[in-house]
Amino acid sequence: MLVVDLGGQYSQLIARRVRECRVYSELVGHTISPEAVRARHPYALILSGGPASVYADDAPRVDPRIFELGIPTLGICYGMQLMALELGGRVDRTGVSEFGRTSLRAEPDGALFRGLAEEQTVWMSHRDSVVAPPEGAEVVAGSPSTPIAAFEARGRALYGVQFHPEVVHTPQGMDILKNFLYDVAAAPPAWTPAAVIEEQVERIRARVGSERVLCALSGGVDSAVAALLVHKAVGDQLTCVFVDHGLLRKDEAEQVVDTFGDHFHVPLVHVQAQERFLAMLAGVDEPEQKRKVIGREFIRVFEDEARKLGDVRWLVQGTLYSDVIESGGTEGVAATIKSHHNVGGLPDDMKMRLVEPLRLLFKDEVRRVGEELGMPERMVWRQPFPGPGLAIRIIGEVTAERLEILREADAVLQEEVRRAGLYRDLWQSFAVLPAIRSVGVQGDERTYGYPIVLRAVTSDDAMTADWARLPYDLLETISSRIVNEIPGVNRVVLDVTSKPPATIEWE
Ligand code: XMP
Repeated sequence: MLVVDLGGQYSQLIARRVRECRVYSELVGHTISPEAVRARHPYALILSGGPASVYADDAPRVDPRIFELGIPTLGICYGMQLMALELGGRVDRTGVSEFGRTSLRAEPDGALFRGLAEEQTVWMSHRDSVVAPPEGAEVVAGSPSTPIAAFEARGRALYGVQFHPEVVHTPQGMDILKNFLYDVAAAPPAWTPAAVIEEQVERIRARVGSERVLCALSGGVDSAVAALLVHKAVGDQLTCVFVDHGLLRKDEAEQVVDTFGDHFHVPLVHVQAQERFLAMLAGVDEPEQKRKVIGREFIRVFEDEARKLGDVRWLVQGTLYSDVIESGGTEGVAATIKSHHNVGGLPDDMKMRLVEPLRLLFKDEVRRVGEELGMPERMVWRQPFPGPGLAIRIIGEVTAERLEILREADAVLQEEVRRAGLYRDLWQSFAVLPAIRSVGVQGDERTYGYPIVLRAVTSDDAMTADWARLPYDLLETISSRIVNEIPGVNRVVLDVTSKPPATIEWE
């Protein structure tokens, strides 16, 4: 399935939803030619929404010959309007904008709404409206302010909906997508984690042949799943290098070693570089400087180890589909350029070629593949964790003592958040140690200790985030455990700032 991106904020979401229906989908730019579309042999096309008016000078268009390919096509919002306009219908600025939840009256005899309730709630977000459908199309749904909210030209396999079936505020949206994918386009629901693994394993084998492969493990889910896929494909031709910089959370380094070395029997070089990193960080308290020191040292250690391994031609990277889209890697898709400083990136002077087995996957799919590969639940569902680790959660100089305190406080927070069943609902939850001291009193004694900041946020993509409303009882448990169990801490505070204006991390 190809999703033609017309600039809408939900284009990626459409691609994800289609995949949730177990049909493989990719995002393509709207300048794609009909020949290129045909060459991909898609079961169907979806034209995304977009912010423009179809009458704007710079409005994104598609080559209208695409509508003559006979490939079932669904236009969503702007995509529907564009379709109407190109095919002889009419789109007007009716003066009636529609934003938010709307009640829809649908025609259950139509293909899109078959088997669904006649009255349903859908999410609308548009100014222009289709006021005459394309020739031969039948109107199959309407709302009070948008009489033409969906049309079907079954003979030409062209379909349009004004609302957004891909968002959760359209409760029957997934059913509508499934009707389109399974019934209209006859696309089989065959995109499963098992199928992904099989396909990737074959690709990796074909690419790598009998040569050796290197992978840097960070402790995060992406590099772990990428490594396991490569191991499944080429076995012991893979060597993983795990640089333990001593800035991971409690027990996470052990988990990497247990899982990869002991459980999956992946050849693993565990580099104990804790002392080396601490020495490099001595006296450094400026956030960007910390990042630089850690990044540089990481590459150094990694290169040393790689050289020791001799002739290795390939390097595994856990690049995700969202990284590919964001860095403009899919042809013509609007790009918000973002540089990705994954620790473990390719050192400049190492002439290695990349294996990127996650390049086509979204994060949630990586997790499902990890589960299918038998990776432990804790590793699969791990919250994002920054490459520089705990170093950027100690505000001030990083010392062994502060690391120890922060690691213990963070472990208490994680344990209680998990116990409360909230771990997976939070984008991130962690402790921060600002290196200041305040006065307290414990058992008749005056104390002078560190505070611990609790930070928990919900988010979809880390670009924006909301501070999580953790229950007071949970906060109380975390607070009293931290001050009672961890010497050197006498105060616990909560960060109640969203992003923006704050960032998720403190540095
Ligand atoms: P901020 O703090 O900018 O973070 O709101 C957004 C997301 O990025 C993560 N983060 C990093 N990840 N190296 C990383 O690999 C870094 O230097 C880094 N800094 C922030 C952060 O944890 C959050 O998920």
